[in-house]
Amino acid sequence: MPSRRAFAGFLTAGAGLAALTACTPDGPASSAAGASATPSAAASNATPTQVTAVTPAAATEPSSAPPSAAHSQAPTPSQAAAPSQSAAKQFSLTDPASQWVVVNKHRPLNPQNYVPADLVQPNIRLAVTGEATLMNSTTAAAAEKMFAAAAAEGVIMALASGYRSYSTQVVTYNGYVANSGQAAADRASARPGHSEHQTGWSFDIADGGGACSFQPCFADQPAAIWAKANAHKFGFIVRYPWMFHETTGYFYESWHLRYIGVEAATEMNTRGIATLEEYFGLEAAPDYL
Ligand code: DAL
Ligand code: ZN
Repeated sequence: MPSRRAFAGFLTAGAGLAALTACTPDGPASSAAGASATPSAAASNATPTQVTAVTPAAATEPSSAPPSAAHSQAPTPSQAAAPSQSAAKQFSLTDPASQWVVVNKHRPLNPQNYVPADLVQPNIRLAVTGEATLMNSTTAAAAEKMFAAAAAEGVIMALASGYRSYSTQVVTYNGYVANSGQAAADRASARPGHSEHQTGWSFDIADGGGACSFQPCFADQPAAIWAKANAHKFGFIVRYPWMFHETTGYFYESWHLRYIGVEAATEMNTRGIATLEEYFGLEAAPDYL
């Protein structure tokens, strides 16, 4: 069970995060009810990156200890760690262009200054401007389907933060450190070269009403509730689930979604596996090495 100290840390980090997001380039816009955007071509600063062939994943990766933290609202971790052998495809866990790349405090991007080759702006409601409106083309297509499905059920989502370059992450992370100190910053914001946002496979959502963006109370907003229940159908997981910070390295981020494909996301949901670290049999990464 979570310790009182860990929970207090969570609240502290959340408060600091809320204060910071109002003043960072990637923080939520003043209104989450922004206009929709038209898909555009890849960002002009994108550097083509070699995409390696689909490779078997689990066999080449180290196995790990099971997660040490759990919560009654979180899925019960399964003992089995590896993806189903019946999976039609397996992908690299290290290539940042792979939909299964695992980036955490033990696994920086390689290269550290990676830029996705296929950044596009999805045709979804935006609550942000600039590079943060971008994601890779596969993630963008899935996001368009998910946002449309949510809207069809009366739940309005907005994009709060998508792609984040290495140089932007320098500014974002340093802002967290200045506001909250390094220990709290490291539970909320990735160090440059360690953020999923740099891969193009992740983005943060806001609620159409704009309430509680990047704050713990976002978990109770319609967009977060809908995403937690349905995101897997579109290939997404909530990457930093409640009380798995000892595995992922980050406190609960009900807004941070990560694309891994419908098959894998559905399998994680079905098997009650909460983290990519457990799903792929990787070591927990609570802190930097
Ligand atoms: N907030 C997540 C962990 C990031 O900075 O990438
Ligand atoms: Zn995020």
